Amino acid sequence: MSSFKDLRIVDNFYQTSAYFPMPTILVSTLASDGSTTIGSYSLCFPYYIAGKSYYAMILECRNSSNTAQNLLRTGKCALNFIEDNRKDFKEAVRLGFPGETSAEKMAKCKFELEEGQADLTEGPRPLIVTKAYQVFECTWDDHLDHAEGDRLRTGQLEGIEPPYHDFNGITSKFGCHFILKIDKILMKEKFRDAIINGVKASTFPRVPVDYGYRDSTNFWYTKFRRPIAEKVPVGKEADIQSVMYAANRIDPVVKFTEGACKTVTKVPRVFLKVVLTQCIDWAKANNVTLIDESHMKIISDKRNAEKKK
Ligand SMILES: Cc1cc2nc3c(=O)[nH]c(=O)nc-3n(C[C@H](O)[C@H](O)[C@H](O)COP(=O)(O)O)c2cc1C
Repeated sequence: MSSFKDLRIVDNFYQTSAYFPMPTILVSTLASDGSTTIGSYSLCFPYYIAGKSYYAMILECRNSSNTAQNLLRTGKCALNFIEDNRKDFKEAVRLGFPGETSAEKMAKCKFELEEGQADLTEGPRPLIVTKAYQVFECTWDDHLDHAEGDRLRTGQLEGIEPPYHDFNGITSKFGCHFILKIDKILMKEKFRDAIINGVKASTFPRVPVDYGYRDSTNFWYTKFRRPIAEKVPVGKEADIQSVMYAANRIDPVVKFTEGACKTVTKVPRVFLKVVLTQCIDWAKANNVTLIDESHMKIISDKRNAEKKK
């Protein structure tokens, strides 16, 4: 017998049929008068994370919202991530309540705003939330799914008639998906320093976990708890032989010493070939045919310096 009960999957299943942990993000966009307006969003996740020519997020929203209308029209937004604070969450819930115009909403807005830092050559961008611990300044990629034409389909606030796109732009009568190219990541100095110098439990921003509307009267979220570090499985001695076997088969000329292979036994197997190939590329560029431990250190230092940049 199963230890689970079946649950009906209905609209907004992530909050009506599940407990789904989400971020709390204030999305700032440009209203038609050029002022900045803010809407609260949780359905916003990394989309392109590697292997593409840019990095991207995806945002899912009601197509009649100010945010969707402004994004369709201007293509620019900033994702402002806020920390756990009762007052700020109350304000986020107010900014997430439909019905008010941007002007009405923003006249009472408790968040201070400031200029962002992304390129302005394509036109103005919305201001960003000063209190955010990090901000992603973004541009909607309307080329994906050939959504360019959706830029002209604004103003239909009672539901948009077909055609719809599959995954970018106007995707249903009431829905929009936006694939957002990340132009800039801005972060408060202490959190930025922690990423560069190595995080500790005490250096994490106080990120709340939000569970959305649960019962049409309340929005639910949990307070921040100090994060815990769990050690990843450590490479075993026996792994050295298998790493050597893999390493010395990649290139007919460039080979690795045992000492060099020892330094990468902790690299997860799925990434090993990429790491070893990068080492071979470095060796070829530097006329090295036998990579030893000291070369691995140079390669690793170079990689760390590039990361810091
Ligand atoms: C914390 C929070 C998260 C929300 N997340 C979403 C979301 O991911 N997608 C969505 O369509 N609406 C979401 N809403 C509801 C929108 O905020 C609401 O539609 C609001 O009117 C949008 O503001 P805007 O019209 O200024 O864009 C959320 C509301 C809150 C309070």
